[in-house]
Amino acid sequence: MRIEISFSPIAGLATELLAVLAVDTQTAKGPGTKPQPTLLTTDAAVEAAAAGVLSSGEYKAGAHEVVLIHAPAGLNAKRLLIVGLGKLSKASVHGVREAAGTAVRFAKPRGIRELTFALPEGSSERLPHAAVARAAAEGALVGDFDADTYRTERKDQSIQSLTIAAPGAAAEADRQVIEEAVREGVIIGESQNFARSLVNEPGNKLTPAILGQRAAQMAQEVGLGWDVHSTEKLHELKMGAFWSVSQGSPEPPALIVLRYEPEGVTDGPVLGLIGKGITFDTGGISIKPADSMEKMKYDMAGGAAMLGAMRAIALLKPEVRVIAIICAAENMPSGTAQKPGDVQTAMPLAPGKPGKTIEIINTDAEGRLVLADGITYARQLGATHLIDAATLTGAISVALGKNTAGAFSNDDETYGKFAAALDVSGEKFWRMPLGEEFADLIKSDIGDIKNTGGRYGGASIAAEFLHTFAEDTPWIHLDIAGMAWVDESRPYVAKGPSGIAVRSILEWVRSY
Ligand code: BES
Ligand code: MN
Ligand code: ZN
Repeated sequence: MRIEISFSPIAGLATELLAVLAVDTQTAKGPGTKPQPTLLTTDAAVEAAAAGVLSSGEYKAGAHEVVLIHAPAGLNAKRLLIVGLGKLSKASVHGVREAAGTAVRFAKPRGIRELTFALPEGSSERLPHAAVARAAAEGALVGDFDADTYRTERKDQSIQSLTIAAPGAAAEADRQVIEEAVREGVIIGESQNFARSLVNEPGNKLTPAILGQRAAQMAQEVGLGWDVHSTEKLHELKMGAFWSVSQGSPEPPALIVLRYEPEGVTDGPVLGLIGKGITFDTGGISIKPADSMEKMKYDMAGGAAMLGAMRAIALLKPEVRVIAIICAAENMPSGTAQKPGDVQTAMPLAPGKPGKTIEIINTDAEGRLVLADGITYARQLGATHLIDAATLTGAISVALGKNTAGAFSNDDETYGKFAAALDVSGEKFWRMPLGEEFADLIKSDIGDIKNTGGRYGGASIAAEFLHTFAEDTPWIHLDIAGMAWVDESRPYVAKGPSGIAVRSILEWVRSY
C-alpha cells in the first residue's frame, strides 16, 4: 500500500472513497436523549453531503460504525464514508487508528483499491494532529493485512494507494510535522505487519532455521548487525535449557542475535530484547491434546514481535543501543526428546560459574526454558535493561481474557516507562504480580527449580521462573499468549496474527 499526504480541501479530492470521521457530541444522558453525530471536518460540501444521514437518526457515530453515501453531491469523491469514533468524551488517537483500519477494511472486500482518509481538523489535546496522523498510517496498514496468503485465489486484494488528507494544516511547520508523523506511522505499521506475516506462517514453512534466514534478511535490509547460530553455539554457551527443548526435533534450533548500535552512542543503557521463538509447540512428551493444536504455529509470536520492533528501531534510529535475542526451536516428542523428570543445566551467567539446574516436570512448559538462556545471554552480552515477549501461558488468558495482555516487572521505574509507552501504542497490557509465593511453588526437591508450579497463578509462576534468570537486572516480561492471535475479525483488523507488542516495545525503547 502506497501512502501519500494531501493538504488540499477534501471536497476537491478525486478519489474512489473519501473517509471522514464523526463523533457523538451528545452529553445529556437518560431516556429520550438521542445521539448527536457530528463530523470532525468543517468542509461545507462534506457537511452538506452528510447532512441528511446525520439528521436521520439512522447513524449514531458509534465506534467503528460506518455509513456510505454514493455519488455525494458537491464532492469529487465517488463515495463518502463516515466512520464513527463514539462519544466525543472518549475520542482518542487510538480510536483514529482503528477508524483508519475500519475504512481500509470497508474498502477491501468491495474491490476499492484507492481511498482517502481525512484526519480530524485542528489539533486538540485529545487528538493532537501529529499523533493522529501517525496513528492513521499505522491503522491503515494494519487494516490492510489479511492472513489468506496460502489461498490460491485470495479473497481480499491489498489496497494500492491511500491518501491521508490533512486539510486543516495550513502552516508549513504543521505540514512538516504531519509528514514526519506519517513517515513514522508507515515504518511502524509495516514493521507490525512484518511480525504478523511471520506469525502467520505454518510450522512446516517456518522452521527455526528459516526464521533465522528471515531475520537475517530483514537485518541486512535495514542495516542491523546480526548472527544466526545453531546447535554448536548452544553447546558452546552451555545453553542446556534452550537445547533441551530442541533436542526432540530433527529441526536444528536457531539462536538469532540482532544488534542496533547507533553511531557515537558508547555509553548509557543497553536494552536487551528477548523473544520466544517456538516455531511449533506440540508440548513434547507432555503432548498437547489435538484440539486447537494447530494454533501452536504462533508460539513464535514473541520472537516475531522482537523482529518487528528491531526493524522499526533500525529505521527510526533512537539514540540507544539495543540487542535482540530470539530463541527459536521446535518442541517435538520423539525418541530423543527430553522427558519429565529430566534435569537440565541452564546457561551460566559467566563462563566457569555454575548454571542453575532445572527439573523438567512438564515438557510443555518449554517457553520459559528457551527464554531462561536467552535472558542470561542478553545479560552476558551487557544488556542493562531487559524486556521479553512470549506466548508463555494459557493461564494469562484465564486471568485477563482475550483483550488484554499480561506484563510483569521487577522494577517500577522500568515498568513506568513501559506504561507510558502504552499511551502511545494504544495496546492494552495489565501489570500482574510477581512474588515469593510464586517462587516458592517452583522450588525443586532435586535441583534449583522446576519448570511448573501448579494450576493457580500459572502466568505469575512462569514469570517468576524467568525472574530467577533476570535476577536484579531491571526486566519486563510480556505474556502475549491470549493476544497474539485474533480469533474473530473486527471492523479494523482481520482475524489471524495480531502483531501485539511490536508498537509498545518500540515505544519503550524510544523512551531511553
Ligand atoms: N505455548 C504454550 C502457551 C499457549 C497457550 C500459547 C495457548 C498460546 C495459546 C506454552 O508453551 C504452554 O504450553 N504452556 C503451558 C504451561 C503449563 C504446562 C505449565 C500451559 O499454559 O498450559
Ligand atoms: Mn508449551
Ligand atoms: Zn509454547
